[in-house]
Amino acid sequence: MTKITIAIDGYSACGKSTLAKALASKLGYAYVDSGAMYRCVTLYALRKGVIKDHSFQENEILKLLDEIHLSFKFNTSTKSSETFLNGENVEKDIRQMVVSENVSKVSAIHDVRVKMIAIQRDLGKNRGIVMDGRDIGTNVFPDAELKLFMTADTDIRTQRRFDEFSSKGQHISFNDVKLNLIQRDHEDTHRKENPLTQAKDAIVLDNTDLTREQQLEYVIKLISDLTLNVE
Ligand code: DC
Repeated sequence: MTKITIAIDGYSACGKSTLAKALASKLGYAYVDSGAMYRCVTLYALRKGVIKDHSFQENEILKLLDEIHLSFKFNTSTKSSETFLNGENVEKDIRQMVVSENVSKVSAIHDVRVKMIAIQRDLGKNRGIVMDGRDIGTNVFPDAELKLFMTADTDIRTQRRFDEFSSKGQHISFNDVKLNLIQRDHEDTHRKENPLTQAKDAIVLDNTDLTREQQLEYVIKLISDLTLNVE
């Protein structure tokens, strides 16, 4: 059975990783959350005191890059891939609001992107991968057989992210969550290098009114229509 590459891009908190994980599990593919990599660099810079009050010197971040080693392991009990920074499981820490507030600026740095993209391409070199992010279909895997561009209503996205924070005991107001999404979308779509844009050959998936199951069913149908064997 030929394995393909599935690239999922889109706005913040529109369910890219939920769909990517479900697809990977259904197809027996690897799942890679490329945003987690940029979050790791941001977390490391925060821990090292290089980012203070939402500002940093680019060259200070660059000095840290060689100290950052990323890896991913599949957790069989949660059935999900977890992110490790220098051997430490940081899956929870990288989702903190303070990381979300700084990650777009960190991800706009040229050398940070060069390093992350090299890792992403290496992880995908044998296909059989679902990767989500902002520039996967446009830049990381321009030859991906299936490209999805995801979007959803801003209030729905905010509610989903707000619920996620609440379930983890992080109490952030609905408005702060919403402002962060809007700000990140703006920065991610307006940066100079590899901004978030819809690839010409991407299929738009607006999941505002779709359940997770409907969304998965829709994409599995798309894959079948591509006459690819996904059994
Ligand atoms: O998917 P996420 O929200 O965890 O991503 C965090 C940030 O990382 C996002 O706001 C922009 C950046 N990012 C990127 O620049 N390129 C990617 N391929 C993935 C994420």
